Amino acid sequence: MSFSKTEDFIWWKHGVIYHIYPLSFFDSNADGIGDLVGINSKLDYLQNLGVDAIWLSPVYKSPMLDFGYDVENYLEIDPVFGKMEDFKELISNAHNRGIKVIMDLILNHTSDQHPWFLESKSSRSSFKRDWYIWKDPKRGGRPNNWSSALGGSAWAFDPKSSQYYLHSFLPEQPDLNWENTEMQRAFFDDIIFWLDLGVDGFRLDAINMIGKDPEFRNNPMFFGLFSNSMQWKSRNQARSYQLIKDLRKLLDLYDEKVLIGEIYALPPGNPNLAASYLNSEHNGLHLTFDFSIVFRYWSARMFHTCFEKSYSSIPLTEWACIVFSNHDLNRSFNRPFTGHHKYQKAIIKAVLQLTLKGTPFIYYGEEIGMPNSNISRKQLTDPIGKKFWPFYEGRDAARTPMQWDDSKHAGFTKGTPWLPVDKDYLTCNVEAQQLNPDSLLKVYEHLIKLRKQYPALQFGEWRPLNKGERDIWIYDRVITNETITVIINFVNKKRKLLMNAPIQGQIIFTTIKNRLSEIEGNLLFLDPYEVILIKRKAEKQIV
Ligand code: NOJ
Repeated sequence: MSFSKTEDFIWWKHGVIYHIYPLSFFDSNADGIGDLVGINSKLDYLQNLGVDAIWLSPVYKSPMLDFGYDVENYLEIDPVFGKMEDFKELISNAHNRGIKVIMDLILNHTSDQHPWFLESKSSRSSFKRDWYIWKDPKRGGRPNNWSSALGGSAWAFDPKSSQYYLHSFLPEQPDLNWENTEMQRAFFDDIIFWLDLGVDGFRLDAINMIGKDPEFRNNPMFFGLFSNSMQWKSRNQARSYQLIKDLRKLLDLYDEKVLIGEIYALPPGNPNLAASYLNSEHNGLHLTFDFSIVFRYWSARMFHTCFEKSYSSIPLTEWACIVFSNHDLNRSFNRPFTGHHKYQKAIIKAVLQLTLKGTPFIYYGEEIGMPNSNISRKQLTDPIGKKFWPFYEGRDAARTPMQWDDSKHAGFTKGTPWLPVDKDYLTCNVEAQQLNPDSLLKVYEHLIKLRKQYPALQFGEWRPLNKGERDIWIYDRVITNETITVIINFVNKKRKLLMNAPIQGQIIFTTIKNRLSEIEGNLLFLDPYEVILIKRKAEKQIV
């Protein structure tokens, strides 16, 4: 059995990417906040899990009003995370283990404490005035009706210069003006710094928001809840696509770097939009996130329809991302409408993540089934949570400290954690799951190994064998000479599965202990929530 990477292996396409929220991963110096030395010390864990790359949410110098997504200096590491030396050591240690390192890159905005903005704000005639988006009042009010993604207007008034500046997020996160080529050159110099340092690529924050309507026209208004929320004029304009081309030119000067775009679209998601930014061979992004699955109910049919739509929107030369959770979303473990039997469903999601066609992104803690925590109002730190509580409690619940063991604060820190540890850490933690052969963590480890062992799971075409009828979803992953069939029962009921043609092969993964290791025939009785992976005998195919 070999887990070595084949010649066709493209790390960002066929590997497994693990998303770390550095504030919450591991605290090495007892200040209650995760740091780079902490991440470094957990590389053995990540290697053992089998990940090929880590993506770090931002670690740049920041006032942390948006927890690092408000960058004050792109060339410095924030002291809460450590020093530049720690970062260099992390890259070197990760690379020695064959693990790539992806940074977050926030191009749409900086912090209002960034020297560029301080200069820009200093006067109307500042030489950096045009590096941000400043507008005169219109009829005594805001320049247009654009709203911030974090609530309220996207314009803040500066009494000193009597102009407004644009902020698509917090007022402390002014939007950069990507029409300004001087600013672009300066920013690209910062990017070159990280590429030269050896980072393997970037996850591009809110990249579809870079391009604004050149005339800054109003967004269309809709009646009801989502008025002004479509952001038709303030997002997805030509400039976003142009900037990506420029970025690609820069990245292509290096080997094997990746650009991954966050293309946020409102529920129910927009796979076509995410796909429109892809062009991995030439001048687009290598990967983009489409979050449609996050907005779907738990149902085999619903999942089939969602992935079918997503795959059909992606051109044949391009590749999908399989992502269920991140630092902005509710954790998928107990996301609203997940219903009962969360643990069994988490196992199914692990199977989907690692057997569907696309690059799996595992959000830290997802591999042990960390839940969204209950955070009291007093404990909230996220500015959106503070603003909209109790209607929306913000993103803190999905950002609580990693649960390493059952010691105080789940072994995350020797100090007081910046966010409380979830109360289930006594049972839901890495150490306990490492000792339990039936744990979710062991399922992840096992599936990642299988993925490496059976190239069909990494490279193969995706062929659905049904549409999720009767709560069962069946699909194949196929390459020449290898077909893996995935059969999933989505419900807590036994199910009889009658297939169109007999299936013959070896069971390589099952959630049921007493399943035989071979399978033959076209009738299968599935236990509640049962999953079976079958390596098919070459000649027979279900039609
Ligand atoms: C998307 C990031 O994922 C989110 O955490 C952040 O608040 C906004 N972009 C602004 O940077």
